[in-house]
Amino acid sequence: MSPSLSTNESPKSQKPFLTALDGRSTGKPPIWLMRQAGRYLPEYRAIRATAKSFLDFCYTPALATEATLQPIRRFGFDAAILFSDILVVPDALGQRVSFETGEGPRLDALTDPDAIKGLSELSFDRLAPVFETIDRVKSALPPETSFIGFCGAPWTVASYMVAGRGTPDQAPARIFAYQYPEAFQLLIDKLVEASIAYLSRQIETGVEAVQIFDSWAGVLPAAEFEKWCLLPVAKIIRGVRSRHPLARIIAFPRGAASHIPSFALSTGANAIGLDTAVDPSWAKKYIPPDVVLQGHLDPLVLIAGGAAQQAAVREILTAYRDRSHIFNLGHGILPQTPIAHVEGLIRQIRYWEG
Ligand code: CP3
Repeated sequence: MSPSLSTNESPKSQKPFLTALDGRSTGKPPIWLMRQAGRYLPEYRAIRATAKSFLDFCYTPALATEATLQPIRRFGFDAAILFSDILVVPDALGQRVSFETGEGPRLDALTDPDAIKGLSELSFDRLAPVFETIDRVKSALPPETSFIGFCGAPWTVASYMVAGRGTPDQAPARIFAYQYPEAFQLLIDKLVEASIAYLSRQIETGVEAVQIFDSWAGVLPAAEFEKWCLLPVAKIIRGVRSRHPLARIIAFPRGAASHIPSFALSTGANAIGLDTAVDPSWAKKYIPPDVVLQGHLDPLVLIAGGAAQQAAVREILTAYRDRSHIFNLGHGILPQTPIAHVEGLIRQIRYWEG
C-alpha cells in the first residue's frame, strides 16, 4: 500500500487529545485511562455476562463497540481505546488463547523452539471483527473524542506465548531467550511483522493514534531490554510510519526506568506512557522535550480517593504544566476502583487553573 494521508492522520486537529499528542498546547491536559473499559463499570459487567468467553466478547463487534463507548458516555474522556486485548495477536497467529475467569489468560505454551516456525501468518480473517468494531466505533464517537488502537509490544506478547500464562517475573520467556536466542529472535521478528500489519490496518480502518503496550519491559537487564524491547518497538514504529508517515504512536515501556530517555529517542514514538514509579521531576529533565508525556497517576491512589488522590493529581498537573501532557494512570485502572473517584479525578483536571 502506498503511503497515504487519510483523514484520520490530518496533521492539525481540534481534538484535545490529538492536539496534545502533536505537541501543541492544550492548557489543561486531555485525559483517558488505560483499561478505562472494564470491570469497575457496572454497565461493562452487565454486557460481559452476555458473552460465552472473554475472547468471544472481544470478537463480537456489537459488544466490543458498546464496551469501547461506555466510558466515553459515562465520563466524557478525551479518547476512546478500542476494546480488545493484546492476546488477539497470538490467537491470529494460530496459538490457542483462552481466558479463565478469575485466572487470566491461558495459551498453549511455546516450550519447543521449533514450534515457533510453525506459527502461521497473521490472519486478518480472524481479526475481521476487530476491524469491524473500529468501523462501528468511528462513526459513533462524539466529534471531540479521539480514537486509539493498540497492540502489545513483542516482548510482552512473547512472554505470554512462551509461558502460556501471566507470570510474576516473565521467567519462562527470559530463560527461553537465553537458551534459544535464535528461536526467540524469530518469534520477536514475527511479532514485529504482525504488529506492523495489525496497527497499519487499524489506522487504515479509522483509529487516530495507536499505543504499543510493553507492560513487562521493566524486568530485563540492559542488554536484553535493548534487544527485546527497544529495537523491536523501534522497528514497529518505523514499519508503521513507512506506510503511514504521520501515524501518531504512543509507546508504554512499563518499568523501563532509566532506559526511558534512550528508548524515547531511538524509537521516535510521539509520546511515552510513563508508569507509576517514574518521578515526574526526573521525567521532565531527562526525557527529550519534544516527546509528549502520558501518565501516570498511581491506580491505587484512585482506589483510596480523598486527600491523597487530590494531592497526587495536583503533583502531576503541576509537574507537567510546561510540557505537552496527556493525563492517564501509571497502569490499568483496577476493578475495585470507585466510580466517584474517577468522576473526582476528571473534575479536578477540568477545573484546574494551573
Ligand atoms: O479499556 C481498555 O484499555 C481497552 C481494552 C484492553 C484490555 N486489555 C481489556 C481486558 C487493553 C488495552 C488490554 C491490554 C492488555 N491485555 C495488556 C497490556 C496492558 C496492561 O494492563 O498491562 C495485557 C498485559 C493484557 C493481557 C491480559 N488481558 C491479562 C493479563 C488479562 C487478565 C487480567 C485481568 O486484568 O483480568 C486480560 C483480560 C482483560 N483484558 C480484561 C479486560 C477488560 C478482563 C477480562 C474480563 O472482563 O473478563
